[in-house]
Amino acid sequence: MRTKIAGVGKFVPETVVTNFDLEKLMDTTDQWIRERTGIEERHWVKKGEETSSTMGAKAARIAIEQAGISPKDIDFIIFATLSPDYFFPGSGVILQRELGITDTEIPALDIRNQCSGFVYGLEVADQFIKTGKYKNILLVGAEYHSGGLDISTRGRGVSVLFGDGAGAVVLQPTEEEGKGILTTHIHSDGTNAEILSAKNPGMHGGYHDDDDSIYGYDDKDFSFVLLTEKMMDEGLIHPYMDGQAVFKTAVRKFPEVIIKALKTTGYTTEDVNLVIPHQANLRISQFVQKILKLRDDQMFNNIQKYGNTTAASIPIALADALGQGKIKSGDLVMLAAFGSGFTWGSALIRW
Ligand code: ACO
Repeated sequence: MRTKIAGVGKFVPETVVTNFDLEKLMDTTDQWIRERTGIEERHWVKKGEETSSTMGAKAARIAIEQAGISPKDIDFIIFATLSPDYFFPGSGVILQRELGITDTEIPALDIRNQCSGFVYGLEVADQFIKTGKYKNILLVGAEYHSGGLDISTRGRGVSVLFGDGAGAVVLQPTEEEGKGILTTHIHSDGTNAEILSAKNPGMHGGYHDDDDSIYGYDDKDFSFVLLTEKMMDEGLIHPYMDGQAVFKTAVRKFPEVIIKALKTTGYTTEDVNLVIPHQANLRISQFVQKILKLRDDQMFNNIQKYGNTTAASIPIALADALGQGKIKSGDLVMLAAFGSGFTWGSALIRW
């Protein structure tokens, strides 16, 4: 028995923010953003309009309908996000409430693996389906980035990259010969965990820093460390990224983990019909394509329209690829992700 993707859904907020719109918020240009990232526009949530959970629920409803089941049939929720509604509880239970299925009392698991969250979730779901424990798993990736970005010139190196949205899939067992998830591979290396991070608000209390005076804590033994005025004043509450370090590691790890999935299953890059990489940056995807010698028609990119939607990017891309008729029954589809942690992973699926 294998796991199949029985339904796919996506949702993005209505408001489109172009690079030209960003020019009005910060010192940047359409040309700079396009040349370095390929991004033309992204969707951003207007405050109070949506959250990661509500967008996730909207994507989920589409995936559930496509799978031919009702929300009450879902027996396990996995929710991947780095932009949850609350510090706690997790977004999975909020999504359960949004779907109106709290009375089913099914488990809801939150996954915190950033850009790799969807592939991590897929591996977890695959194990539960294969053991027969669950039969209709809802896996959601959703992000409300825009509310946490520094959209002034100070934050331009990061904020131009990210967009909001959600994607969801329903996973079910299948006995159809040769079909379903063939293999998954997930990895991490926390050596340089802070290279791509949002440390504050957080409970680290300066533990990982040689000099914690940067955070503005008071000097009492028992102190409030979650958030300080200095963090607010100096913009230490926004995501931080060493872009070049991320780029260099990403272009090594994407091909590595794709090749691992191919070696495990005995396929070659020639056999793959479509690679759907996490939409980190068009330049990263193009680099990976070149290293693996993939044709243009084997590579799917839609970052131009959505920016980097982190945990949501693969299921959104999957929904778009299916919508555009780029995946047919029997196709070999490779999903691959790399992101903060660092974490990375791949999944090879016979559709
Ligand atoms: N508009 C205009 N200028 C900018 C902007 C902007 N939005 N952002 C930074 N700059 C300036 C910098 O201030 C710097 O100016 P200076 O030379 O006067 O100091 C100059 O542009 C170059 O800055 P770098 O950070 O060195 O730019 P780089 O060429 O490395 O490009 C980028 C930055 C696009 C982030 C690149 O490093 C990259 O693609 N990294 C990969 C990271 C990535 O894609 N992350 C996605 C999220 S992680 C993930 O999903 C895996």
